[in-house]
Amino acid sequence: MSFNRSIKIAPSILSADFADFGREIQAIEAEGADWVHVDVMDGHFVPNLTFGPPAVKAFRPHVKTFMDVHLMIAPVDPYIEAYAEAGADMITAHLEAGPHIHRTLQAIKATGKMAGVSLNPGTPPESIEYLLDLVDMVLVMSVNPGFGGQKFIPSAVDKVAKVREMIGDREIHIQVDGGVDPNTVGALAKAGADCFVAGSAVFRGGSVGNPAPYGENIRAIRSAAEKALGE
Ligand code: DX5
Ligand code: ZN
Repeated sequence: MSFNRSIKIAPSILSADFADFGREIQAIEAEGADWVHVDVMDGHFVPNLTFGPPAVKAFRPHVKTFMDVHLMIAPVDPYIEAYAEAGADMITAHLEAGPHIHRTLQAIKATGKMAGVSLNPGTPPESIEYLLDLVDMVLVMSVNPGFGGQKFIPSAVDKVAKVREMIGDREIHIQVDGGVDPNTVGALAKAGADCFVAGSAVFRGGSVGNPAPYGENIRAIRSAAEKALGE
């Protein structure tokens, strides 16, 4: 994948129909999703449980775009290999998930996959200073991870701006996750984020039998971001 900062919308399948992931993934891609965001939760690092490696492996053949796997698990290191083998294109780990995030990112890179580092809302942006040469993406959480449909935390905008400044001309994506919708996306895009995860704001109003609302929702988020950038 060649690097660029164009706006990317990454629907989170946490808001999809859990009995129909294959068709849900096909529907969001047909309706304009750029990436597919997979939220992995362990009931320990975050208070919710979702997808093990076999589930992610079952999603893989349906994903024609880019599979972005967000690991909200601790420990992380014992499972990196399994999620890489399951077919992730990018693996993102949380800075807060253990004492050795540098080692974790090295382990992700060693699998040949792209590596992301994620920051919870309470974690300062300066904490990634010595990680920047190891990552392909910084994920700024704009809710406390664990559930879809939560209220956007506005301090994420300032954090994105600080991360953008730290990145300089390095080829590193900035992703935002949590409460992203047409109302919140503009300020985030202006601050320098290029990849937007959205669960409820993409899936609301639609279904595999009626996927047109997915497309309308994706276009509404994308156009609000582009408008804020003056594009
Ligand atoms: C939160 C997850 C998000 C979540 C976003 O723990 O990482 O990806 O699904 O959901 P919305 O867009 O509904 O806030
Ligand atoms: Zn996520």
